[in-house]
Amino acid sequence: MFEHFDTLYELTQKSSLHDKLRATHRSLNETFPFIVRIAIAVYDPETKVLKTFLHSSGDDNPLDHYQSLLENAPSLKSIVERGKPRVVNDLFEFDRGEHKHTQKIKEQGYAASYTMPIYNEGVFIGFLFFNSNKKDVFNESVLHQLDLYGHMISLLLINEFTSVQTLTAAIKTTGNLSHLRDPETGCHLDRMSRYSRIIANALADKYELNDSYIEHVFMFSPLHDIGKIGIPDNILLKPGPLNEVERSIMKTHATKGRKMIDDILNNFALVNFEHVDILRNIAEYHHEAINGTGYPFGIKGNEIPLEARIVAVADVFDALTSVRSYKEAWSNESAIETLKELAGESLDKDCVYALIQNMDKVKEIQKQFLEDSYG
Ligand code: C2E
Ligand code: SIN
Ligand code: SIN
Ligand code: FE
Ligand code: FE
Repeated sequence: MFEHFDTLYELTQKSSLHDKLRATHRSLNETFPFIVRIAIAVYDPETKVLKTFLHSSGDDNPLDHYQSLLENAPSLKSIVERGKPRVVNDLFEFDRGEHKHTQKIKEQGYAASYTMPIYNEGVFIGFLFFNSNKKDVFNESVLHQLDLYGHMISLLLINEFTSVQTLTAAIKTTGNLSHLRDPETGCHLDRMSRYSRIIANALADKYELNDSYIEHVFMFSPLHDIGKIGIPDNILLKPGPLNEVERSIMKTHATKGRKMIDDILNNFALVNFEHVDILRNIAEYHHEAINGTGYPFGIKGNEIPLEARIVAVADVFDALTSVRSYKEAWSNESAIETLKELAGESLDKDCVYALIQNMDKVKEIQKQFLEDSYG
């Protein structure tokens, strides 16, 4: 008998996908020291955008928050079309400075790369990149072993996605069972989740947000009003202004949402799911105000978690620019004026300006997710 140290031991522990990726990288480096970066880029089929989700190299990676339309990355696109991985044994020869992104890869000192497309049950979900600091390292035997690592990392990623899907499905089912009437019509959730992502991306440098955080804000923001399931029809769907009593009942949706999420996480054994606090915070605190006049707690400023401050701006902007049972849709210009007035009062200033300064992207989203039946 002898003791063997499992270099992938960390995969058996409760840890984030990011930690698991780093552990895998360390293990891989014992055999292949030239692999200096492993990165995952995920694909959003709705917007056709590809973006870096996780990477295992140093903290100040210039490729963090990289995103691009798959259309605009022709060599990556052809990997998807052919469904086969790509080996580039000399990145310098591969692309002589045509693409800004490839340029950055070279500046990092990456000399060669192995790129695997990731599929879940045949559906393309992203890419896995292995970058080397030496050229001509990817031969058949190395690639064979990288494939094993690559497929293992893909499964870890799919597992993460499946947890989010389970969570979303659980919440939808809960909603249907309790006769969820959807008061926020049309594509409200599609738009507001993307506004949330625009804001988070714009604040990434200032607040040191990583891609995984941003992606989770995007994934979880559609669940902000889950607690409205518990509000009676006559209030939720009232075609005019709410009276005092109705308004106070309406306000309970924040706390109700937090409780529902806790229940669901318990029932579906997802309590240890990474970043689950982002979800709880969004549901519970998205109506808190910077100046302390919000609900349910009246907490102030930085006491309100950033994800809730982000979602609040996205939610209010979309509520203003959409039709509700109780109001008409406003123009972008009037909504922007109101956001500016609310900035520093109820809404976070940085979050407001992050959205306003990216109106070109906001308009793209409005074009893509037009109201279906209402205006
Ligand atoms: P919601 O429709 O998703 O609105 C989200 C938030 O957007 C509101 O949070 C509010 O901060 C902002 N908002 C929406 N419309 C306006 C507006 O015309 N002017 C201004 N300045 N802000 C606006 P709030 O007020 O806490 O409301 C939470 C939820 O309560 C709303 O979600 C909606 O479902 C319901 N609600 C609020 N007011 C009324 C109302 O007068 N009648 C009815 N039927 N429901 C209401
Ligand atoms: C590529 O097509 O592989 C790189 C181009 C880019 O991402 O800009
Ligand atoms: C990346 O490593 O994030 C992209 C590399 C590539 O375009 O080949
Ligand atoms: Fe709400
Ligand atoms: Fe909302």
